[in-house]
Amino acid sequence: MMSECHCSNWIILKFGGTSVTSRACWETIAGVARQRLAEGLRPVIVCSALAGVSDQLECLIAEALVGRQEPVLAQLIERHLSFARELGVEESIVQEPLDALGRIAQGMALTREVSPKLKAQVMSQGELLSTRLGAAFLKQQGLASDWRDARELIGASEMVGSEQRRYLAASCATDTDEGLAAALEGSGEGVVVTQGFIAANAQGETVLLGRGGSDISAAVFATKLGATRCEIWTDVPGLFTADPRRIPQARLLLHLGYDEAQEIASFGAKVLHPKTIAPLKRHDIPIVIRWMERPDFSGTVISADATASEAQVKAISAKRGITVVSMETVEMWHQVGFLAQVFDCFRQHGLSVDLVSSSETNITVTIDNLANALDPESVRALVADLKRFCQPRVVDNCAMVSLVGRHIRSILHEVGPALAVFAEQRIYMLSQAANDLNLTCVVDEDQATPLAAELHAKLFGGRGEDGLLGPSWQELFEPCPKPAAPMRQAWWRHRADELIALAHQESPRYVYDAADISAAIERLQGLRSIDRIFYSVKANNCPDVLELIEQKGIGFECVSAAEIDLIIECFPGIDVRRMLFTPNFVGRAEYERAFAIGTWVTLDNLYPLEAWPDLFRGRDIFVRLDPGKGRGHHEYVHTAGTKSKFGIPPMQFDALEEAVRRSGAHVVGLHAHVGSNIHEPETWSEVALFLAHAAERFPDVSVLDMGGGLGVIEQSGQSALDLAKVDEALAAVRRVYPRFAFWVEPGRYIVAESGVLLARVTQTKHKGEQFYVGVDAGMNALIRPALYGAHHEIVNLSRLNETPNCVATVVGPICESGDILGYERTMPTPQEGDVLLVAATGAYGRVMSSTYNRRALVSEYLLT
Ligand code: LLP
Repeated sequence: MMSECHCSNWIILKFGGTSVTSRACWETIAGVARQRLAEGLRPVIVCSALAGVSDQLECLIAEALVGRQEPVLAQLIERHLSFARELGVEESIVQEPLDALGRIAQGMALTREVSPKLKAQVMSQGELLSTRLGAAFLKQQGLASDWRDARELIGASEMVGSEQRRYLAASCATDTDEGLAAALEGSGEGVVVTQGFIAANAQGETVLLGRGGSDISAAVFATKLGATRCEIWTDVPGLFTADPRRIPQARLLLHLGYDEAQEIASFGAKVLHPKTIAPLKRHDIPIVIRWMERPDFSGTVISADATASEAQVKAISAKRGITVVSMETVEMWHQVGFLAQVFDCFRQHGLSVDLVSSSETNITVTIDNLANALDPESVRALVADLKRFCQPRVVDNCAMVSLVGRHIRSILHEVGPALAVFAEQRIYMLSQAANDLNLTCVVDEDQATPLAAELHAKLFGGRGEDGLLGPSWQELFEPCPKPAAPMRQAWWRHRADELIALAHQESPRYVYDAADISAAIERLQGLRSIDRIFYSVKANNCPDVLELIEQKGIGFECVSAAEIDLIIECFPGIDVRRMLFTPNFVGRAEYERAFAIGTWVTLDNLYPLEAWPDLFRGRDIFVRLDPGKGRGHHEYVHTAGTKSKFGIPPMQFDALEEAVRRSGAHVVGLHAHVGSNIHEPETWSEVALFLAHAAERFPDVSVLDMGGGLGVIEQSGQSALDLAKVDEALAAVRRVYPRFAFWVEPGRYIVAESGVLLARVTQTKHKGEQFYVGVDAGMNALIRPALYGAHHEIVNLSRLNETPNCVATVVGPICESGDILGYERTMPTPQEGDVLLVAATGAYGRVMSSTYNRRALVSEYLLT
C-alpha cells in the first residue's frame, strides 16, 4: 500500500486515437510507462478510441435509425477482433462491450429512436474497447496494469441545460480529489489504464465530455490527483509557430506559458483541446506534448516557468470561417445603451462574438461560424433584427490572421515592419486583445495562408535554434518523408536546357511533360477505393495530352457538347460510356447531343426534367446534388452551398423525386463536386457519405461520383494532398456502403504540375519601390493570378544556378494593372531575352487564355 505522500507521484499519460491504433503504438506506450515507473512515477494512462471508431459509432447510430446497422456493426466487431489478434491478446476480452454494442444497436433499430442518453452509451464503447485491449497487451508484456472504468472514477458536475448537453457535453470538477487517489491505490504499484471522453453522472449514467474530450479527461485526472505533470502523446512533435501543414517552415515551440498555449490552441492548432489548459494552469501542473514517433523527443512544454519570459511573438495563426458584422449607427450618435442593444440582439440569436471594435458611429464584431453553427438563415434573421436600430453589413468568408505572444503591445515597434505584408489587403478589422496576447487582422479567407506565410517568414525566417524555437516542421519531416505523401521534385528542374531551347524557338509557349501526367494518373489508379476515373477535359484539352490520357485507359468528363465532340474527333471509335457529360445551365440542344452520342448525362437542375420531360423518358441519368459546403482555393471555385449555382440542394429533393417520377427517367448515379484545388483529404468521403444517404430516395442508384477538385502543390514547401488518406477515408465509407461504385473526375490533379508557361523577358523597369520584369506573356496567356490571386512559382530558367539577387514583379504586355504574373518574386536579376518559367500551369492555363489586345493564342507542346 502506498503512503499519502506518494500522491504527487501521479503522472497522466494521454494517448489520442492515432496513438492507440497499432501494436507499435502499444509497444511505445509500454516503453513510456516503464520509463515513468523507473523514474518513481505512477502513470495513469488515459486513452481515446481507436482512430476512426468514434466516426464509425456515429455512423452505426445513423444506420440503426434506418434499420441498416448490421454492416457497420460487423465492421466494428471485426476491427476490434482483428486488433486483438494483432496485439496477440484474447479476443474474448472485448466480447462483453461488443455484445453490449450489438444489443443497443438492435434496440435503436427497433425503436428507430436514439436519445442523448443512449447515444452516450454507444459512443462510450469506443474507449471501453480500446482500453480493454491495450491493458491486456501491457499485462501480456509483463507490465503490471489495471484496467479501470473511468465512469467509476470521475463524476460529471450536475449540469442544467438540455438533455443533449447533459449527456453529450458534460463537464467535471477539477478540484483536488483525495477520494480518487484513494480509489486508485487499489490498483497496486503498476499502471492504471482508463478511458478518456467518458464519465458518469450522479445517477451513475454514462455521459460524454464532448468531442476531443480525452484531453479534458486527462486534465480532470491530473488536477484531481495533483499530478506532477500531464503528458499529451500525439502524432505531431508539439505546438508550432504556425500551422505546419500549411506553412512547413513553422518552428517547434519548446516552451510556452499557459496563456500563450491557450491562445494558440484556441486559434485552431488541433494538438490540444483548449479547455484542457485552464484547470492545469490553476493547479500549476505542467503539460508536455510528446511525439509517438520519437518518444525521446522533448516536444513542447507548457508551464508557469515560461510565463515570465520576455515580450515576443511566438506564433502566427490563421483562423478561417469567420463572419464580420459591421453596424453603422449614424442616426444614433452618442445614444446611450447602443452597445447593450447590439449585444442583446446577438444574445437573442444565440450568437457569441469574438472580436469587437467600436467607434462613435460604428461597431464591428466577428463571429466564429463553426462554434456558432452559423448558417445563412441565422445570418438573415440577425440582420433583420439589427436593422431595427442600425445599418448592418455582413462580410462572410473571412479569416483572422493573428500574431500570438506575450506583451505584444510593448514590441509593436519591432513587429511593425513585418506588418507591411498587409499593405495590399483589405483589412476588415484590426484588434489588439485586452489580455495583450494577440494582435489580429481580419482579412478575406483566401488571403489567410499567403499572409500568414509571409508574416511568418518575416518574423521567424532565418532565426536559429534557441531556448524558444526548435527545428522546423520541414526539417523534422523532410529527412524521412512519409510514404503516404512524398515530396516530388518538379520535373522541369531536370529539363531546363530543353525548355530553354524550346522557348528560343517560340515564346510564349506552354510545355507539358508526358511522364508527369502518366505518373499522376498512375497514382490515382493506385487508389483502391475508386472504381473509375474520368479526366475533366476543361482543365487542359491539348490533343496530345488527351491522347496520352486516353492511352492510360481512363474516361473523360465533359461540360459542353463541344468538349464531347472534341473527344469523338480525337478518338473516333471510343466507347461512349467512357464519357460523362456534367453540364451546368446548358441549353436543350446540348443535352440532345449528349444523348444522341450516348454518353452518361448528369443533370444539375430540375428545370430540364420539368420543362423537357420527353428528353429524359426511359433514360438512365446522373443527378448532381449540392452537399451545402463549397471548398477550394478561391471562392470563385467553390461549387456547393447556397451561393453557388451548382447542384440540387436537399430542400429540393422531394421535388426532384417527383420530377424524376413524372419524366420516367431512372437515376442510376448521384454526383457532387464541391470545388477545386482542395487539400483536405476527408472532402471526398464526406461527399460520398452525403450521396449515399441521398441515394436512399433513388433505388436504382449504383454509382456515386464525388467530382474532382483534388489539390496540387502551388508553392514550394507546401505538402501534397495525402492521397493515401483520401483512399483510407473513402474505404471506410465503402465498407459501410459496399453496393455503390465510386467515381471521380479530377482535372487539375492530372495535368497541373505537368505544365509550365515559358515566357521571355522583354525589358525591365524601376518605378516607385517596384522592380518590374516584363515578359512576352501576360494575363492573356495565364489569367489565374489576375482572376484568383493564384500563386505560381516563377523561376529565371536562364539563370537557374545563379544566386537570387533581386525582387521582381513579373508583368505582361496587356493594358491592365492586373496584368501581373507574380508579385515580388526573388530571383537572379533577369536580362532581356532570359527565359522565365511559370510553374504548375498545366491546368486552367492555356484553356482559359484569350486573344485580348489581339495577342495570339499561346501554342502548346508535349515533351515525351
Ligand atoms: N467536375 C466538375 C463537375 C467540375 O466542375 C470540375 C471543375 C471538375 C470536375 C474538375 O475539377 P479539378 O479536379 O480540376 O479541380 N479555373 C479554376 C478551376 C475551375 C474548376 C471548375 N470545375 C482554376 O483555375 O483554379
